[in-house]
Amino acid sequence: MITIPIHTIVTDIVLINEKSLRNLLTLTHHSELYMFKPYINGYIVTLLCCFALFAQSAQAQELVVYSARIEQLIKPMFDAFTKETGIKIKFTTDNEGALLAKLQAEGKNTPADVLITSDAGNLWAAAQADLLKPIKSAVLERNIPAHLRDPKNEWFGLSIRARTMVYNTKKVKPEELSSYENLADPKWKNRLCLRSSKKVYNQSLVAMLIAEHGEAKTEEIVKGWVANLATEPLSDDTKALEYVAAGKCDVTLVNTYYFGRLMKKDPNLPLAIFWPNQSKDGVHVNVSGAGVTRYGRNEQAAIKLLEFLSSEKAQNLFADVNMEYPVNPAIDADAFVESWGEFKQSRMNLSKAGELQATAVKLMDRAGYR
Ligand SMILES: [Fe+2]
Repeated sequence: MITIPIHTIVTDIVLINEKSLRNLLTLTHHSELYMFKPYINGYIVTLLCCFALFAQSAQAQELVVYSARIEQLIKPMFDAFTKETGIKIKFTTDNEGALLAKLQAEGKNTPADVLITSDAGNLWAAAQADLLKPIKSAVLERNIPAHLRDPKNEWFGLSIRARTMVYNTKKVKPEELSSYENLADPKWKNRLCLRSSKKVYNQSLVAMLIAEHGEAKTEEIVKGWVANLATEPLSDDTKALEYVAAGKCDVTLVNTYYFGRLMKKDPNLPLAIFWPNQSKDGVHVNVSGAGVTRYGRNEQAAIKLLEFLSSEKAQNLFADVNMEYPVNPAIDADAFVESWGEFKQSRMNLSKAGELQATAVKLMDRAGYR
């Protein structure tokens, strides 16, 4: 069977009909049909409008998404979206840096309608580079708490990742732990492991500390962390957890889904989650989220996709596959994730993570955090 893309057919129909209708229009100049010209003209205009609308809506039946989330994390919810709306999704996955560079290079010619990426720092950077467009959606405003979306409506958090403490249950009593700030106390000397400062996760965490305490106090905190390190900063969250489990250090800071992945593999590891800052501002949270691209051609369908992803139907699909938390407060997390306990989250707007990221990077460098 030969398949022809529907937009090609529609474009052809518009062209053929435009041509024959123009002939008809010319005819009306010379013939007895002249008296009907106003009617025929009106008819032609109406027909062309219909074709144009049909062509546009047929083209809008496909959305292009650039995603820094890997295929296995996004495919199930795209399939659910297509099933519900009939709108197909073509997606490209890559790391966030590559996708932002691609969007920037393509400029007005980009085929992408939606950008999906992790970390508010990355979403903020995309908005700052003018790659996203502000959108108005009462559904998104209702489904997503204000601190998890851009105040200018250019990006929206769709799942929450909590950056919390994980400790070795054989070496630490939970009552010894209290806050991110307290990990700078000399009592943690040679007991702390941290992921490298090169990853956006700790940059966002430090940016949020700056937003709360100012630069001078945050620098003292970060210097305290560095003084307490048991090892050089580690390449990723999983490695940090493995070091804690092996007793090479006692406590670390990670996103909870890395803890979840490791514990699913080996439930007997001597690791447990601690929720810090509960009597203060709450746990540092971040998001995976999305925005509508500045130059995408299918804005309405793109908004529809974001709204769908924030809805009850898709929130668990978006969050559960990566053991994250739904942003929509009406939805419960996956049972395994819920088993880690409830916590109070920081309500500071995540745009601060972006605004203060460059400041955070310089501060970490000054503090000797590599
Ligand atoms: Fe991650």
